[in-house]
Amino acid sequence: MPFKSDTLSQRMEHACYPIRELFPLSEEIRKTGAEIYNASIGDPVPYLGTASYVVKAYRKALKEGKTSYCRPPGDFGFLDEIAKRYKRLYNLDIDSSKIFVTQGLSEAVAFLVESLMDKGRGAVLFNPYYPVYAPTVGLFGGTVVLSELDEGHGWAPSKENLEEKIKNAKSAGMDLKFMLVNNPNNPTGSMFSRKYLEDVVEVAKNNDLLIISDEIYDEIILVKEKMTCIGEVAKGVPHIIMNGLSKNWGGTGFRIGWVIMPEDDEGSKKLREGFTNLLSMRLCASTPAQLAGVEALSNAKAHRRYLKYIVKNIKERAEFMHKRLNEINGVSCQKAKGAFYLFPKIDLSKTKFKNDKEFCTELLRKEHVWVTRGSGFGLDSHLRTTVLPPVDILEKVAQGIENLVRC
Ligand SMILES: Cc1ncc(COP(=O)(O)O)c(C=O)c1O
Repeated sequence: MPFKSDTLSQRMEHACYPIRELFPLSEEIRKTGAEIYNASIGDPVPYLGTASYVVKAYRKALKEGKTSYCRPPGDFGFLDEIAKRYKRLYNLDIDSSKIFVTQGLSEAVAFLVESLMDKGRGAVLFNPYYPVYAPTVGLFGGTVVLSELDEGHGWAPSKENLEEKIKNAKSAGMDLKFMLVNNPNNPTGSMFSRKYLEDVVEVAKNNDLLIISDEIYDEIILVKEKMTCIGEVAKGVPHIIMNGLSKNWGGTGFRIGWVIMPEDDEGSKKLREGFTNLLSMRLCASTPAQLAGVEALSNAKAHRRYLKYIVKNIKERAEFMHKRLNEINGVSCQKAKGAFYLFPKIDLSKTKFKNDKEFCTELLRKEHVWVTRGSGFGLDSHLRTTVLPPVDILEKVAQGIENLVRC
């Protein structure tokens, strides 16, 4: 009997990841032998490498035969080092029993949304958003409510806009459960100030919303401002901190993330129980990668050296690209404060393209420049470019955008 397309569940309609959607076209172009100027995927490893002291620790774990399953919530030693990191960076006292290791932060998002969403329920996101959040909410039956970030003010959140969107969703009968914050931000490169985070916490508290904070870029800070962890401003308010080895240590392929659920309210306790069951069902995260994580978090001196190197390079590249993009007539771009992205606005009325999807497809086809469409992050007429490649490649990316805006 043939395998019919209606075999797939309805929820599969929500499964998508716009960052990779031009992959087939890029393969086609590569087959012709042409070079592609790729600023689409936020993987620092090809450009800046993984922190070498972490790779060494991974090798050591393999050599010592540390390749069996470990406990589902995570290796004890690794959990302790995660707790110490939050004391060291943010002066937070976190019991390691409230920390859970996941296979990348991506698994943390999937398991949290799975634990919290149902049909009729909703989640609040800031727009633009990292494109895994909204489809995952959809996959588990929920609906997203979007609160716009203010581009003209460095992509700041607006307390009034947030309150209004929540009020409207509640009036329409939606049962809102959580709000997801991403700081520093992908795609905008912005960083919420402490004051903005305090506003977000106040709104969440007034509306009984759990706050989930994705802080995967929390040590890639390109300005003098200090990063505020949600745990510093949300004490006593249900909140969750997520992070992992992918960006601050350049360890994307290790697939190690973590989730911290520090509060002691009834909901947080229940969530910790449910989450532990989900983690048990997938047995454990990679054991040798967690042991590499122990070294990643405990060797503060080596980590400082690696961070200094990557932040210096990212900062130079972000500054170059920010200036270069703003020189193009019809393009405007906010400065990045953290992470490794820029999110320029394209005045499509100056071009022959109807939307940013058309623009990005043609940019790849004609100029061999690969960036991601802003609409994939919830906002049309924008592009997301990484600033990981060296300046000569970034110049090709900017030149390609300029050529296409002009034509
Ligand atoms: C905001 C954000 N969260 C999470 C991830 C993925 O994290 P991980 O590699 O730990 O799954 C990314 C990757 O680009 C990201 O930009």
